[in-house]
Amino acid sequence: MGLNTEEIMQLALEMSGFRSVPADSAIYTSGKNLKNALIGIDLDAPELLIAKQLGFDLVISHHPKGGSSTLHFPEVLHRHTEMMIEHGVPKDVAEQAMAERIYDARCQAHIANYDHAPSFARMLNVSYMNIHLPLDEIGRQQMLASVKKLKPESTVRELIERFKSDMSEFRNAQTQMEVRVGRPENKIGRVAVSHACGTNGGYPVAKAYFDHGIDTVIYIHCAGPDSRKLQQEFQAQGKNLIITGHVVSDSLGINSFIHELENRGLKLTRASGVVSP
Ligand SMILES: [Fe+2]
Ligand SMILES: [Fe+2]
Repeated sequence: MGLNTEEIMQLALEMSGFRSVPADSAIYTSGKNLKNALIGIDLDAPELLIAKQLGFDLVISHHPKGGSSTLHFPEVLHRHTEMMIEHGVPKDVAEQAMAERIYDARCQAHIANYDHAPSFARMLNVSYMNIHLPLDEIGRQQMLASVKKLKPESTVRELIERFKSDMSEFRNAQTQMEVRVGRPENKIGRVAVSHACGTNGGYPVAKAYFDHGIDTVIYIHCAGPDSRKLQQEFQAQGKNLIITGHVVSDSLGINSFIHELENRGLKLTRASGVVSP
């Protein structure tokens, strides 16, 4: 008897330490006795048809693709606020740093055509789900375990090398980690791995960390204008912003999850940018 979609979601929760399904993850069309899954970073309506044609009975997207994942996505952004507070950022500063982004995300979610891809999954009779925050949390834990092996006196270069030696995805990816603020020879000092919060916190979140005792912020991605602003403001202060790369960092949790699903008899095929371990 193969797994069902609920058991697959439950496994992701157990692996990541979540008690309930986060707002950015959902089962769009549930299914039982699943045997053959397609998993990828962005699996949308066209990919559902491809999956159907190729004989997959389940499609697992990492990023949200509709339904409650899209409509309630802004809720997970509050994890930035919680993470900042854990790292010593005052509550009011942390809330202020996220206020605009959460407002904008709410407007965006309200705009979204939330039943686009799920409507085709129903039509094609393919089981369809997305698992976002739990898989990112698994990836974040891997990065944290690597950071723990280092000392505050370790350099940015050593952190990057550590990540590459601990996580094969970083060796296999076609992107390199980038130091957008700081220099490879800088000491890392106090580090915040700012990931598994919905999306990156951009300028305001990195600034809040830098202003409150964090020396190195790790993002998996960051837009040009925010990176530039942070560089202009914090380069001279000896702060570091390391960008690990989007699809490669998303792949960390996805690959761990694939490994566990395969142990439970589900056959998985990677697509849409997943970097193999
Ligand atoms: Fe992700
Ligand atoms: Fe992502």
